[in-house]
Amino acid sequence: MTAGRRTLEDRVVVVTGGGQGIGRAYAQAIANAGGIVIVADLNDETGAAVVAEIEQEGGRASFVHLDVSDQVSCEALAVQLLAEHGRVDGLINNAAVFSTITMKPFWEIPVAEWDRLMSINLRGPWLLTVALLEALRAAPAASIVNISSDAVLLGRSGYLHYVASKGGVTAMTFALSHELGGDGIRVNNVSPGPTYTEVERATVSTQQKAAMLAGQSLHREAHPEDMVGAVLFLLSDASGFITGQTMHVNGGLLHA
Ligand SMILES: NC(=O)c1ccc[n+]([C@@H]2O[C@H](COP(=O)([O-])OP(=O)(O)OC[C@H]3O[C@@H](n4cnc5c(N)ncnc54)[C@H](O)[C@@H]3O)[C@@H](O)[C@H]2O)c1
Repeated sequence: MTAGRRTLEDRVVVVTGGGQGIGRAYAQAIANAGGIVIVADLNDETGAAVVAEIEQEGGRASFVHLDVSDQVSCEALAVQLLAEHGRVDGLINNAAVFSTITMKPFWEIPVAEWDRLMSINLRGPWLLTVALLEALRAAPAASIVNISSDAVLLGRSGYLHYVASKGGVTAMTFALSHELGGDGIRVNNVSPGPTYTEVERATVSTQQKAAMLAGQSLHREAHPEDMVGAVLFLLSDASGFITGQTMHVNGGLLHA
């Protein structure tokens, strides 16, 4: 979709959770737009595979092992990026506990599961933003894109910790845009609706899927490629005066 439109030429962009699913599509699209992609993931195997795919297509990418919930890991990523690239222009806070969640009523969520999910989905974007702050401040047009979820607005049942974490991401985006505006760093939020990736997951039942497709204005499944346009736009100079916003990419789910 971005062939010939190198809107991110030479920009160094970190994609957390870039080893699979939607993050993989973000990484590929950023490389196609001329960017230098840092695929940062807990899973070394899938992360390295995405880098290999990008390089086979002639793009530029490298893999860095990252646990976003761990401050030391986030700081190590920042040190490595500055040593290897000397700059960081963009950050996509996409990594999350998502496809591995098993649905359950909120009173059955173990405290340990709640805490682990929050440490990745909500603490993670904060920790990595802090770790990369000086690098982003030094960039001429830095952009942070956080990934939330329309599960927040739908109030979906069965994974209260996830919904609460993504509500936090949306709120954090708004507040961060205020705190970082003086540094010229833009912070926006992309909120996908249900998106069907190569990864099987148990968060959507067949009945829920049918109901959601019927409820969308566009009655078709969303795929990772449907999410990349919003992220590319928010990373690029075309959105240079847009910050603190949420883009809902959901085929009209909330308005149908
Ligand atoms: N797929 C959907 O329907 C949908 C809808 C709305 C929002 N989202 C959000 O979009 C993003 C991507 O979704 P997806 O379907 O590709 O998810 P996914 O579960 O398939 O992939 C998540 C990725 O994050 C990585 N990850 C997990 N914990 C990590 C950690 N501690 N440190 C670094 N990396 C870690 C995983 O290894 C994996 O590569 C997530 O933030 C998700 O919440 C997805």
